[in-house]
Amino acid sequence: MSDKDISQAVISRLPRYFRYLGDLKERGVERISSQELSDIMKVTASQIRQDFNNFGGFGQQGYGYNVNYLYDEIGKILGLDKTHSLVIIGAGHLGQAIAGYTNFTRRGFVFKGAFDKNPALFGTRIRDVEVRPVDEVVDFIRQNNIEIAVLTIPKEQAVPMSQKLIDSGIKAIWNFAHVDLDVPDNIQVENVHLSDSLMKLSYNIDRYEKTLKS
Ligand code: NAI
Repeated sequence: MSDKDISQAVISRLPRYFRYLGDLKERGVERISSQELSDIMKVTASQIRQDFNNFGGFGQQGYGYNVNYLYDEIGKILGLDKTHSLVIIGAGHLGQAIAGYTNFTRRGFVFKGAFDKNPALFGTRIRDVEVRPVDEVVDFIRQNNIEIAVLTIPKEQAVPMSQKLIDSGIKAIWNFAHVDLDVPDNIQVENVHLSDSLMKLSYNIDRYEKTLKS
């Protein structure tokens, strides 16, 4: 089966498998059955087998899964065996927090540049990277083969910025602005809205309290 046929639902579960396998690996666990993985991840064993079958299985009858191998293979599927360079556009609270999070670098996402429109920020540093004027971002992306732009600017600014990014040769946008971006198929967009998650939490608090009362 080619990657094209794999549903986004399966792809969206892979990072979680990868995280759990990383933890198992750190604890020195060498192999695990789908039932054991199911118990710790609270996903059915058949779901796990189905998910992994999309990629040719990985398991051996009677042995289970080799944790190191599975971790590496899922990492490869997720493209984590390569490095990806990224720039932050909008070096405010959120942009600085993301750029300052060194764990992304450990995963292969290398923070190469930070851009803002506020002159007061030019020349300041986030980790060892200098904040530059946003007018320089397109040239910077072209000259440094940057793959990912992280958009942490207000939504009104995000659409015109995405148009500039289309011309820059960027491959992907990690969009934190609360607006949908219209980009061609050759540019991948992943939207992140923390408030969606918070609203889900609010719903679940409410629902749980209603069950207590009923
Ligand atoms: P902030 O005001 O601290 O930072 C925004 C930065 O963007 C400022 O430094 C500003 O000068 C810069 N900026 C504005 N327009 C720009 C442009 N055209 N080019 C380059 N830089 C530009 O705001 P904060 O808290 O960092 O939030 C940034 C954005 O992210 C906001 O739109 C906010 O709504 C959104 N946000 C999204 C979240 C999510 O889960 N998706 C969570 C938190 C914030």
